Amino acid sequence: MSLLALYPDPGKQVELNRLYLKLNLHRFAAEGHVLIYANYIASIDGRISLLNEDSGEYGVPASIANNRDWRLYQELAAQSGVMITSARYFRQLAKGQAQDLLPVGQQPEYADLLEWRREQGLAEQPDVVVISNSLDIPLSALEKLQGRKISVLTGCAASAEKIDRLKQAGAHLSVFATDSVTGTGLKQWLIQSGYRSAYMIAGPEVHRTLLAERVLDRLFLTTHLTLLGENRFHTLLSGILESPVKLQLESLYLDQSATNSQLFAQYALQQD
Ligand SMILES: NC(=O)c1ccc[n+]([C@@H]2O[C@H](COP(=O)([O-])OP(=O)(O)OC[C@H]3O[C@@H](n4cnc5c(N)ncnc54)[C@H](OP(=O)(O)O)[C@@H]3O)[C@@H](O)[C@H]2O)c1
Repeated sequence: MSLLALYPDPGKQVELNRLYLKLNLHRFAAEGHVLIYANYIASIDGRISLLNEDSGEYGVPASIANNRDWRLYQELAAQSGVMITSARYFRQLAKGQAQDLLPVGQQPEYADLLEWRREQGLAEQPDVVVISNSLDIPLSALEKLQGRKISVLTGCAASAEKIDRLKQAGAHLSVFATDSVTGTGLKQWLIQSGYRSAYMIAGPEVHRTLLAERVLDRLFLTTHLTLLGENRFHTLLSGILESPVKLQLESLYLDQSATNSQLFAQYALQQD
């Protein structure tokens, strides 16, 4: 089933497969720069996660998660040198309440993405960066990422004991001079580490960290045409921004079927 392009070429029918892959995000940034992009799926009323009463954990609402959006998620992951996530994600992973960290193309329908990475000269899987102040990162969750370089970025109050524990488990630790990891600090670290494309898959706090210092370049947002309600939820941004961040629409597609209707939007951050 094809998508209907709404912007910039309204009326064209386009295929879902390779919609984002053909962007070649790994080649966007010039030498010595990095492209940082984020991706969310949200309901019309803005929910990216809801509280699961049984587990007591927040997670992506099951009624909006779907394979077609997941294909695009995988295409974005395929173009990344590194995926940026949060410690909270690892805590959920250890409890079996999060999807296994993001190996690209593990199921047969995504095998083309592994092949594509090979053709592009990229590592088999993107590296992983974890942002955390608490350093409460279960080692059992790190073990699930064998074969991938894992870096943990933290603020200056981090416990030396926890740093040692993570280093012994094979993680690369970077302690920032600031209380928390800052957007500009993270961007510099990515550049110094030689990354050219970074895919941020964490939630609203890491997103705010990037937006506050305007280091996010692109936001990919799937809006599922569903109203969810519920009182305990996350949206894609929390906390305070000193000034509003303005976005410019780069592309918009409608994916409409009897079971799933959604809009795939890509925005660029306007630098002010
Ligand atoms: N629908 C979607 O597309 C989508 C996408 C992503 C996430 N989600 C959902 O959103 C919910 C929240 O996700 P998340 O837990 O990844 O969210 P998050 O709010 O980005 O991450 C929170 C954790 O990240 C660390 N952190 C954030 N900013 C930091 C900074 N500047 N410096 C140091 N550490 C920092 C902290 O870890 P410590 O506590 O260890 O210090 C904090 O507890 C989850 O339920 C997830 O499933 C949905």
